[in-house]
Amino acid sequence: MTVIRQHAEQQFAEELALLAAADDRPRPPGWKLSPQAVVTYLLGDGGKVSPKYVGPRRLMEVAVATLATDRALLLLGVPGTAKTWVSEHLAAAISGNSTLLVQGTAGTAEEAIRYGWNYARLLAEGPSEAALVPSPVMRAMQTGAVARFEELTRVPSDVQDTLITILSEKTLPVPELGSEVQAAKGFNIIATANDRDRGVNELSSALRRRFNTVVLPVPGSADEEVDIVARRVAQLGRSLELPEVPPAMEEIRRVVTVFRELRTGLTEDGRTKLKSPTGTLSTAEAISVVTNGWALAAHFGDGVLRPSDVAAGIVGAVVKDPATDPVIWREYLETVVRERDGWLPFYRAARDV
Ligand SMILES: Nc1ncnc2c1ncn2[C@@H]1O[C@H](COP(=O)(O)OP(=O)(O)O)[C@@H](O)[C@H]1O
Ligand SMILES: [Mg+2]
Repeated sequence: MTVIRQHAEQQFAEELALLAAADDRPRPPGWKLSPQAVVTYLLGDGGKVSPKYVGPRRLMEVAVATLATDRALLLLGVPGTAKTWVSEHLAAAISGNSTLLVQGTAGTAEEAIRYGWNYARLLAEGPSEAALVPSPVMRAMQTGAVARFEELTRVPSDVQDTLITILSEKTLPVPELGSEVQAAKGFNIIATANDRDRGVNELSSALRRRFNTVVLPVPGSADEEVDIVARRVAQLGRSLELPEVPPAMEEIRRVVTVFRELRTGLTEDGRTKLKSPTGTLSTAEAISVVTNGWALAAHFGDGVLRPSDVAAGIVGAVVKDPATDPVIWREYLETVVRERDGWLPFYRAARDV
């Protein structure tokens, strides 16, 4: 069977092996690579190691350095700023394992962070090592690996606080067995949290003190964002085995331009103020609009990515709230898109969606 999506440590196994072979710097206990090599893995080396994160190097250095201390790492940012992506690659590069993952939701219980029980065994034999079902965090402690905690602030505060002992004492008591699991060297936690969720379940100050926070920004310039989208679309298209279409920088630039203008509420030339729609219009959504356009062009179009292939996707991303967004979109279409040089085919396609 071929899987749809490999884990980072599988997909980039060769790059990781190359880096490990050439890595002569000191590695923190339990790490597969030195902090330097981890940052090179993330940002690429201009040669065989491809860039995964596109953005300020300093942020990645701070993130990686944090994980080499006794503090945990919190990646914070608006949706689509690569928090999940970076945390997966960090875990892959540091521990060779990005799968020790807790997905935080409003319903996340303490057992998902500590441990649960195999109830059939528990009833038959009473509490025992064999009946205990370790959480991903417990397994990370046992193996000296990095555990990932997605969307930490969606988890109720009292459940979040389960992490305090784990992070401060590096131990997880199992009172039922009169024992504990002490974290092996190399253990740490990377949590992600959404800026827009702030206030939903704030981190308690006791927990916040255990984390260093790194805020991932939205891409600084249009060129940078175009670069991110082009790279990711090419990777995704390859792994989905979409039929080849010629690289379509013009359409990618258009998607990015529309998203950035509506996100910031200002046209690129700074002349026209715009209303922003309710959707987040993140880089991640731009990537999926272009990928969908590619599939349309390859399977139903003429094999070239055209304005009509991205129009429906763009409108779908912009118009989220049926009450307010259609008006905002129409105004943008009529005042900006229609007048812009070379944008007429896109204007027509978007109007007809
Ligand atoms: N600065 C960036 N560098 C590289 N990829 C990025 C960047 N920003 C967004 N992406 C891409 O966007 C996609 C979604 O990111 P994700 O990690 O799910 O966002 P978040 O968890 O912050 O909501 C990923 O495929 C990632 O490659
Ligand atoms: Mg995420």
